[in-house]
Amino acid sequence: MIMRHWMDSPIFTYGRLREWRIFTRRQGDSPNAETGAVCFEINTYGRAVVIPGVTTEPATYADEVLCMCVAGGQGVLRLKGEDHPLRPGHSFAIPPGMQHRFRNTGEAELEFIFSRRPPSSTDKSFAISHWTEDRPKDQWGTPYQGHWHHIYRGPSCEVHIADLPPHKFSHPHNHTPVLDEIWYVQRGKGWHWMGQEYRPHYPGHALWLDPSELHSLMNPTEEGVEYIYAASWALVADRARALKETSIPRTAVGQLEELENDFAALVAAYRKTSLSIFGIEQQLPRIEKLIAALRK
Ligand SMILES: [Fe+2]
Repeated sequence: MIMRHWMDSPIFTYGRLREWRIFTRRQGDSPNAETGAVCFEINTYGRAVVIPGVTTEPATYADEVLCMCVAGGQGVLRLKGEDHPLRPGHSFAIPPGMQHRFRNTGEAELEFIFSRRPPSSTDKSFAISHWTEDRPKDQWGTPYQGHWHHIYRGPSCEVHIADLPPHKFSHPHNHTPVLDEIWYVQRGKGWHWMGQEYRPHYPGHALWLDPSELHSLMNPTEEGVEYIYAASWALVADRARALKETSIPRTAVGQLEELENDFAALVAAYRKTSLSIFGIEQQLPRIEKLIAALRK
């Protein structure tokens, strides 16, 4: 787990827009906690601010998609001649080559949490939504929520609001080996657990998680904790699609082998944590035996 407060990050100025780069893409194979160069595929992740009364210069990113969530203030995004009003909780994605500018129409700073990363095949057009609108539904028609229904997942755009009610924690899980998952603490105080680490976090902290380690969020307090979640799922989905197109059809044995590998990776992740989970040490060998029996 690499945790960094935006105030400890270097500041850059683009005309009238200020940007704190909390995390950047890593150089080589290992993350560098000191410099914040930790991401696999997100080029820049940070906090951006436009001060009141100001309109930023037109900006275009030639080969990056810009995903943003409004963390505070009021303003307008001008894009292709159209104005899109912004308030806290809006998230949007601007594809490469699309000129845009921001205007702060409020009394306070217009504040964003953003990521810039290489575009995926689904990042062709501009998309904007507010986390209270257009809530995706699951197969039973219930608005989709994340792990154990405790973390709300907002509409797409990959940088969006998530919140954890008092006395709840999310389902411990890990991910595909190459995924950037970053949590920014917007409001409240919670705890992050990853592998053998367990650390409190406060507003303004951003946490980058190693996808191979089991992790979870916990809220032991009486107040809700609000996060801004960012991830590079669109690039993961592209890789999965490419793999599906090139791979030969799986046989039943192949599927079982895949399941067994997934299970072995999960077991390895659990064992790495050295956590005592009631009954798990008895259950794991039993499931391993079942898989072995199925393979015969
Ligand atoms: Fe996760």
